[in-house]
Amino acid sequence: MDLEDTLLMMPGPVSVAPRVLRAMSKPMINHRSTEFAGIYTDCREVLSDVFQTKNDIVIINGSGTAGMEAAVGSVAGKGDKVVAIENGKFGERFKDLAAIYTEAVPAVFEWGSSVDLEMVKVKLEEGAKAVTLVHNETSTGILNPAAEIGKLAKKHDAIFIMDGVTSLGGDNVKVDEWGVDIAVVGSQKCLGAPPGLSVVSVSEKAVEVMQGMEKRPYYNDLLAYKKSGDQAKPETPYTPAIPLFYALHEALQIVKEEGMEARIKRHGLLTEAVRAAVSAMDIDMFPQLNEYSRYSNTIAAMKAPEGIDGENVKNEMKKRGIIIAGGQERLKGKIFRIGCMGNISARDVLSTIQQLEIVMNKMGYTDCLGAGTDAAVKVLNRS
Ligand SMILES: Cc1ncc(COP(=O)(O)O)c(C=O)c1O
Repeated sequence: MDLEDTLLMMPGPVSVAPRVLRAMSKPMINHRSTEFAGIYTDCREVLSDVFQTKNDIVIINGSGTAGMEAAVGSVAGKGDKVVAIENGKFGERFKDLAAIYTEAVPAVFEWGSSVDLEMVKVKLEEGAKAVTLVHNETSTGILNPAAEIGKLAKKHDAIFIMDGVTSLGGDNVKVDEWGVDIAVVGSQKCLGAPPGLSVVSVSEKAVEVMQGMEKRPYYNDLLAYKKSGDQAKPETPYTPAIPLFYALHEALQIVKEEGMEARIKRHGLLTEAVRAAVSAMDIDMFPQLNEYSRYSNTIAAMKAPEGIDGENVKNEMKKRGIIIAGGQERLKGKIFRIGCMGNISARDVLSTIQQLEIVMNKMGYTDCLGAGTDAAVKVLNRS
């Protein structure tokens, strides 16, 4: 496999632009310097637009999970209750994290199904310090109702912690309007940067709660990040991964140049083209929607047709130089997923669909070569 000629159509890490790769080869600098403060400030400025927030933004070393752990551990501790909504792999992760730091109150739904708001309401009525939600559940391709959960959290005075790891930067995420107290994104998804950084927004209410905590995590203490970020010369409490900051800085310049509105539209159109293509190939989408959920703007998850192992689809695509994702854990073999995150283009989507047609045809599933491409082109022509 030629790693330099491989198309990543998976939900992160995504391919990064050559100018982003080049940015990482710049010389190291003092992280307590005006140069670093300038990079940090520039990044936070663009990220405020991505998050649609006036809340403080901090950037921590570590992938998305570090941000999730920092969020839960900084606001909830022994004796507190956290309602953890799970309808997929990453909701389960929040539940597991909550169980380590505090008492998790699980609100669990079958993976791939929609969140029942009534059940969440009942759990919150019993009293909780915080509620966690994965906005874009990457493992199942569903977009969960963040605005509605935000309303419930506000009504019950709970801190709203939202994983926006694969929606921020590729979908319309309204942190302030929805009342999200802590939102998290990973650098290697829709922002188009390499893996290794997690961006977290923190509301005033969340900061007050953190100040009242008897214990918080040491390395992933969001209050420590906020204090360092508040200085006249903003910095991070511990040594930042400087090459990754260079890369994120450059990736965010690309975000700024494209503009968030255009970026969200592009992600949506490309993902819709994938959905249209697979439907034309008689392949069913995996998520079961209700009136509050919708298909993800950044990833399409499909059921592997009867008699076909989703892992084989993934493996056959890999042989053709295109990396897609299979199902995780209990969904392994049952679904396959195509991500449209970061700087993916219509050309990338069309190549993927054409190869998928060939793979499915080879597996004896479809004799309608071209139907998927045709359907995708119709959607893409709308741009
Ligand atoms: C929705 C969601 N949350 C959290 C994570 C975990 O992020 P990371 O692997 O960057 O720690 C992922 C990774 O794919 C994700 O898709």
